[in-house]
Amino acid sequence: METKHKVIFDTDPGVDDAMALYFALAHPDIELLGITTTFGNVTVEQATINALYLTRVAGRETPVAQGVSAPLSKAPGQPPGFIHGDDGLGNLPERIAVPGRAEDCSAAEYIVKMARAFPGEISLVAVAPMGNLALALKLEPNLPKLLKRVVIMGGTVSEPGNVSPVAEANIWNDPEAGDMVFTAGWDLTMVGLDVTHRVVLPYDFFVRLAQHQQHRATDTLQHAVHFYSDFYSGIRPEIGYGCFGHDVLAFVWLVAPELFKTQSGRVRVAVEGIANGQTMMDKLDSIFYPQPGWGEEVPHTRVCIEVDTTACLQLIASTLNSDWLKPVISK
Ligand code: RIB
Ligand code: CA
Repeated sequence: METKHKVIFDTDPGVDDAMALYFALAHPDIELLGITTTFGNVTVEQATINALYLTRVAGRETPVAQGVSAPLSKAPGQPPGFIHGDDGLGNLPERIAVPGRAEDCSAAEYIVKMARAFPGEISLVAVAPMGNLALALKLEPNLPKLLKRVVIMGGTVSEPGNVSPVAEANIWNDPEAGDMVFTAGWDLTMVGLDVTHRVVLPYDFFVRLAQHQQHRATDTLQHAVHFYSDFYSGIRPEIGYGCFGHDVLAFVWLVAPELFKTQSGRVRVAVEGIANGQTMMDKLDSIFYPQPGWGEEVPHTRVCIEVDTTACLQLIASTLNSDWLKPVISK
């Protein structure tokens, strides 16, 4: 029986996006059909360059479709070069030349095209601002039925935010798009800061990975994580020298949901004001709220609220240390 998850990966690489991409390429239960890019950690143009680079360096010719360059209505901000580097990969000292260019269609068109080609089969894993999903929904209102599921890294329910006391970066970067995702009606799982802040990846892990694999892909990842760890260890000294792997946990959920405890409920996004980007969850289904926006028509989201940290780290380690890398595809 075919057990692989057919996946489209919506991403803004980004260091933890790179970890997630390599986890997806390495895991035997995942078939990565294509990548869609967006602004966020870097500009969308740089995100596309990075997606092409990371895949080709790992020996894959995965299609890459470029997506939105700005939020739906919020004023665009500057990419956080101080977290991911100006190039999104910790300011790599050099890049080899790799072949490949973005698809002729947009990210949203690619998502719709693939969902129609494989109805009910595709898992969309989105770990960046959600504009591509919002546009795809506008192009194809039946998308929630055409996709098997959507898994997002974004939002937070109980954990403090990382761009404001209440907001997580991916949702805050495009709150309107985020709210469209939470109200679309697909099978939706939210992997937010409530769990990603429970999983710290020590920099040493990436040093050992690079030593074990002896490959440009894992050397690249090690360099990127070094920069990223400088940031995280600076703001969160209690985690030691390392980082949060945020985006990789969306894929961990996909292949090992038993490692998470979840709660189901309506989730909405504050789209303006000081709380913009906040993901609010209705945890008390039995209460009727007079405030509009919380009616029974709002679909439920499966929200990850706890994670088995040790098992999660073991899965990430065994997956990335496995024999998955192919010879670099260079020009
Ligand atoms: O809040 C964490 C998210 O913001 C991750 O997707 C990371 O890559 C950044 O974009
Ligand atoms: Ca990301």
